[in-house]
Amino acid sequence: MDFKLTEEHLMIRDAARDFAKQELLPGVIERDNKQEFPKEQVKKMGELGFLGMMVDPKYGGGGMDTVSYVLVMEELSKIDASCSVIVSVNNSLVCYGLQSYANEEQKEKYLTKLATGEKLGAFCLSEPEAGSDATSQRTTAIDKGDHYLLNGTKNWITNGGSADYYLVIAQTDKDKGHKGINAFIVEKGWEGFEVGPKEDKLGIRGSDTHTLNFNDVKVPKENRIGEDGFGFKFAMKTLSGGRIGIAAQALGIASGAYELAKKYSKERETFGTKIMNHQAIAFKLADMHTEIEAARLLVMKAAKDKDNGDNYDLSSAMAKLYASRVAMETTVEAVQIHGGNGFVKEYHVERLMRDAKITQIYEGTSEIQKIVISRSILRD
Ligand code: CAA
Ligand code: FAD
Repeated sequence: MDFKLTEEHLMIRDAARDFAKQELLPGVIERDNKQEFPKEQVKKMGELGFLGMMVDPKYGGGGMDTVSYVLVMEELSKIDASCSVIVSVNNSLVCYGLQSYANEEQKEKYLTKLATGEKLGAFCLSEPEAGSDATSQRTTAIDKGDHYLLNGTKNWITNGGSADYYLVIAQTDKDKGHKGINAFIVEKGWEGFEVGPKEDKLGIRGSDTHTLNFNDVKVPKENRIGEDGFGFKFAMKTLSGGRIGIAAQALGIASGAYELAKKYSKERETFGTKIMNHQAIAFKLADMHTEIEAARLLVMKAAKDKDNGDNYDLSSAMAKLYASRVAMETTVEAVQIHGGNGFVKEYHVERLMRDAKITQIYEGTSEIQKIVISRSILRD
């Protein structure tokens, strides 16, 4: 497989790298401390086209490929994983879901605004009783003729308080199991739709995560996505692409921590020499570099599979499983290489370590990725 980047890829990557250094780095520690949503930064990312990268230009998107998207995700995540998850949800769950499965009217009405960053999206599958076990949806949407009546609770929703449009998965016919699940576009402000308090989190603290409550929310019939009963497959198909974004986020967190650790090892001296001259430190860096490169190849393979129109359920699950493990291991070692300084906020690696953990949990835990992978390889 050819992983050579084009001139265009390199330009997009460099633009994201410059943006992250100039616009994300300056306030990243403060936003993390205060759990502050990066409103200004999200606005700028919309202007740069980072929020609808893969959307067809006729709907206001950048018309770029998945490789460009993962390059941007990696660069943003090196510095601010709270910002990159906002980008990931809007691009690969919300915009991709609508571009692939919404009808023309829905695309005109919603996708055009989401792709330009004028509006922000959220993807609402998880519930208190339905996280990994996503078919156990308790939220109901009862067919009332010209509308559905939506009732229930979604939790852990990224962009939960900041989004304008929400893709909500709900059970329309319990007897039909996963075939009785549908996906709907819901707008903030509709009567009966209430955003709960913000979660106080270990990592990605700038990203706002909320519980959402729906009490007799009237959802017009025309806001259902796809044929009746398509909602679970909609979620699964969309998540396969989403997992490439989160794998790229994990890769970025790992590379960011590695770059900081390498730099520090060339500056810090102990026993009369730079710490990079101690083999124990040099070997840690060698392992980190090797693991990151392996993760990068898996992420690129998944992105290329998607761009080539090949099935990417397996490659995206492998990329997410592996890259998230590398993110966790690399960030722990980066803290170790920094010694005491690794334990304080000023040096950034402790934040990257806290941020890394979520990549093993959301968009399907590592255990769930192993279920997807093992089912795929054992199917025959
Ligand atoms: N594409 C299309 N269809 C798929 C599919 C895919 N990738 N995966 C499953 N399906 C279909 C199956 O074929 C099956 O349909 P049929 O009966 O017609 O064949 C149906 O969906 C049910 O599939 P399973 O029997 O495999 O369902 P399951 O109950 O065993 O669960 C699972 C499978 C993979 C564990 C799934 O429940 C899952 O992915 N769980 C994790 C949920 C998740 O990732 N949540 C993320 C929330 S979003 C988020 O987290 C965002 C964020 O943080 C930023
Ligand atoms: P559970 O499903 O209860 O799992 C608990 C443990 O059991 C895990 O270790 C899991 O791997 C393991 N486990 C469960 N079932 C099995 C099994 N069959 N075999 C082996 N092990 C198993 N969801 C959204 O819909 N939209 C969002 O925007 C979103 N953003 C999130 C942001 C954050 C910060 C967080 C923390 C979560 C977010 N989520 C979101 C939810 C996330 O996708 C779920 O937390 C995740 O899928 C796991 O579900 P759960 O928390 O219910 O854990």
